[in-house]
Amino acid sequence: MVKVINKKSQEYFLDARSIMVGGVNSPVRSFRGVGGSALVMEYGKGAKLFDVDGNSYTDYCLSWGALILGHAHRNPILAAKKTVERGTSFGTTTRAEVDIAKFITRAIPSMELIRFVNSGTEATMSAIRVSRGYTKKRMVVKFDGCYHGHFDDLLAKAGSGVANLKESSSLGIPASHIENTLSLPYNNSKVLVETLERYKDDIACVIIEPVAGNMGVIPAQKEFLKTLRDITKKNKIVLIFDEIMTGFRTGLGCTQADYGVVPDMTCLGKIVGGGFPVGAYGGRKDIMECLAPLGGVYQAGTFAGNPVVMRAGLATLKLLNKDFYRTLNERCEKFAADLNEYFVKENLPVRLSAYRSMMSFRFSQQPVNNYDDARTAASDEIYAKLFWHFVAKGVYMPPADLEAFFVSGMHTKKDLLDLSAAIKSFFVKK
Ligand SMILES: Cc1ncc(COP(=O)(O)O)c(C=O)c1O
Repeated sequence: MVKVINKKSQEYFLDARSIMVGGVNSPVRSFRGVGGSALVMEYGKGAKLFDVDGNSYTDYCLSWGALILGHAHRNPILAAKKTVERGTSFGTTTRAEVDIAKFITRAIPSMELIRFVNSGTEATMSAIRVSRGYTKKRMVVKFDGCYHGHFDDLLAKAGSGVANLKESSSLGIPASHIENTLSLPYNNSKVLVETLERYKDDIACVIIEPVAGNMGVIPAQKEFLKTLRDITKKNKIVLIFDEIMTGFRTGLGCTQADYGVVPDMTCLGKIVGGGFPVGAYGGRKDIMECLAPLGGVYQAGTFAGNPVVMRAGLATLKLLNKDFYRTLNERCEKFAADLNEYFVKENLPVRLSAYRSMMSFRFSQQPVNNYDDARTAASDEIYAKLFWHFVAKGVYMPPADLEAFFVSGMHTKKDLLDLSAAIKSFFVKK
């Protein structure tokens, strides 16, 4: 473990633990995945994050992928400031919502109608409710290792047999909440087809991260996604892409544009809020029209479509043009390719799994295509050491293995060179 340079962080975190559950408002922030006391952050600017002890870090967590423009970017901050001064919430439709809705639905044509909510969890939960209302069917299919928020029905673990899956991944979830959930292996077309054919009359929707980011980064295989699209269409099952992490991270049309696979519904969050809390879901008009006030599926929210969030979000999205993505993606792809080449040359048991500006570490030389592979290639022990090695080098990474890390448009070539040097200095054979 590194020399303690985080005395104030430790004091604040002790305080936090005495009044907030585990000292946090979201469990992964507790540093249980890496040990030691959580760092308490004070402010951020660009690619840098500063803790309460005055240490600075180049940040690759970026609020779990939300900050594609880095911290406190001038445009979303100015947009938010200007909006705040004119009132923060009206409980009515505002022009801000209409403007960002137009932007998003133009960028993602499969989202013919959209609804804003306050978090990613709300988006997936609501999309699933709409899909059930639309199809009048009950079952939900997800994939092992994908995360879609903390909605009861989705906190289901893969069981030994798909059909008799009955185990939730959290206490407090009655068996009845997950009895309609099936969790299948990612990138396995055979199991997918067999299961969907078998339960087609009961399955309302399939929800998937088209590029998974919650078991480290695993892009779906193109053939797998195409099979998924074909079989869901054939069986009148709603296909939901959870692009909460990938939305506007990988490109303007998101991963559905990269793959050329059009889902029925899409969930968004993170980047769309310009650094503020947000979620959104949308899709085919005939499906979304099932939602109140047009249809019988109920979903509502006091702060949904909040004008401050909408303005900050739109100010962010407006900066994300083709050039922005070309520069960011090319820089990241080169970074990952160079490092992986180095790991192979040095015969080191580590790889970067990467998709554009999302990446993760694998402590293995084997390919990783699903959750079982990801777990085999994971090591809490190595990751914890790596994490604190990074802290000592002034780099902040997500404080848990199997999480993706992110690069923003504010990270320079030099930042990535420094990161590369920090990684090499950890793995190089001593
Ligand atoms: C793919 C995906 N879906 C859903 C969620 C849940 O979003 P939120 O934390 O805003 O509820 C997350 C959060 O990390 C996510 O990565």
